[in-house]
This record gives sequence, C-alpha cells and structure tokens, in this order.
Amino acid sequence: MTIPLLEIEDLSAGVDGKEIIKDFNLTINSGEVHALMGPNGAGKSTLSNILCGKQGYHVTSGRIWFKGKDLLKLSPEERACEGIFLAMQSPVEIPGVPITAFLKHSVNAIRKYRGEPELDTMEFIKMVREEGKKFNLDAEMIKRAVNVGFSGGEKKRLEALQMAVLKPDFAILDEADSGLDIDALKIVADGVNALRDGKRSMLIITHFQRLLEHVVPDFVHIYADGRIIKTGGRELAAELEQTGYAGFMKENR
Ligand SMILES: Nc1ncnc2c1ncn2[C@@H]1O[C@H](COP(=O)(O)OP(=O)(O)OP(=O)(O)O)[C@@H](O)[C@H]1O
Ligand SMILES: [Mg+2]
Repeated sequence: MTIPLLEIEDLSAGVDGKEIIKDFNLTINSGEVHALMGPNGAGKSTLSNILCGKQGYHVTSGRIWFKGKDLLKLSPEERACEGIFLAMQSPVEIPGVPITAFLKHSVNAIRKYRGEPELDTMEFIKMVREEGKKFNLDAEMIKRAVNVGFSGGEKKRLEALQMAVLKPDFAILDEADSGLDIDALKIVADGVNALRDGKRSMLIITHFQRLLEHVVPDFVHIYADGRIIKTGGRELAAELEQTGYAGFMKENR
C-alpha cells in the first residue's frame, strides 16, 4: 500500500496565542498538485510556515505525516532534507551570502543527509547558471547576495530558481505569482511545470486563476475560517474569480 506524501489530520494551530488554523485536514499524494485559495489573513502562510517548521507558531492539536514520518517532531533542517521546500510569500534578504554559495550549501546539506557525495563546485555553478537563464536571472545577478536589492518579481524568480535547483519532493509555493509581470508569470509557470514529473507534489497558494491556467492543478481547495470549505477541480478557481470570496462563502456555507 502506498502512503500519502503529506497527511494533515485535524490540525489546530496559530501564532501569538491566536488560533488561526482550526481542525484542518488535507491529504496530498505523490505527484499531485493542489491549489489553496483563501482570503487575506485566513492563515495560508501560517500553514506553510508550520509545515516548514518556522519558529514562533504553536500547534494545539492534530498530526502531520510526511512520508509516513511525524513531521512536527522534525527540525526545519530535517524537513528540508526530507524534501520540503517553501517558496516564500515575502522572500527574505540575506546580506553577505551569495546566491551560489547559499544554493550549494543547501544542495550539499541535503545530499549529505541522504548519504550522497557532495557536488563539484565548478559543475554546480555551471548548472545554476544554466537554470538561472531559464528564469531570466543572468550570471551577474546570481553572483549577488540572496534577494538583496532584488525587485519584487526578481525575488519571486529567484525562489523559483531555488526550487528548480533543489528539486524538492514537496514544494509549497506561497503566492509565487504575486508581483510577476505577464512574461515572468509564464517563465515561472514553465519552471514549475518542468518539475512536474508524476512524483513530485506541490501546494500552490494563490489568489488568482491566472497562475492555475499555466500550472493546472489536480485539486483546488477553498480555505476560510481555518479550514478547507470546498474542494474541486480547476473550475472552482474560475468560479471563485467570478463570485469573489464574500459571494463564494455566502453560497457555500
Ligand atoms: N507573528 C504574528 N503575530 C500575530 N499575528 C500574526 C502573526 N503572523 C500571522 N498573524 C496573523 O495570522 C493571520 C493569518 O495570517 P497569514 O499570513 O497566515 O494569512 P494568509 O492567509 O497567508 O493571508 P494573505 O492572503 O494576505 O497572504 C492574520 O490575521 C495575521 O495577522
Ligand atoms: Mg499569505
């Protein structure tokens, strides 16, 4: 029997003493792409941060299983090594840390965890430059410190590059489309689609249907009041675009 890649069971969690996620359930199997849509402040980024193990959040009840392991018992580093990746809604600047060094350290930490040999530096840099070109990030940009001075859209393209280099088993894309111009949206979507191999899974958090026109999800979930209130196919995103969250929730309560 194959076990789900990710299983979130009756999760209740929050931050700063405030309960944000309430009895949340979600199962993602290997190879599936799920989209999560919900109003501002509903808790989508909170959920992403909890999955990655970001400090400062509390879990009141529930369990999260990743590859059959109790995710909440793993450190953020172990979760990354197990194959979880988050493309952040607001990518952080890391002054003094060049992108190539950051990526090489990350890739080698994961390889070490899995008992694989480290990558050769020259080959790695060549590979990052090649991947960078796909996301319209040239060699000069890749030499810069992580996100420092990057425009909003450039930061999003860099997140996508990180995902392409790290090749995670499970990628969470938290508003990967925000701030992207029309061409960049297509570039990022192509990068995401290139990683869809029938095994890798993704959770795409977005407010707009446009990304989902390029990266077609297997399931669309509407999230509100701390839990998923409706699940459907891509048509659900189109319906939501017509009704808006207020109208949608009126009709679906
Ligand atoms: N560190 C914190 N301290 C206090 N409240 C917080 C903190 N982090 C998040 N929150 C609150 O938790 C709620 C959920 O925030 P979250 O960022 O998860 O929403 P979201 O669904 O991702 O919204 P958006 O669509 O705007 O990105 C918000 O009301 C937010 O203000
Ligand atoms: Mg958010």
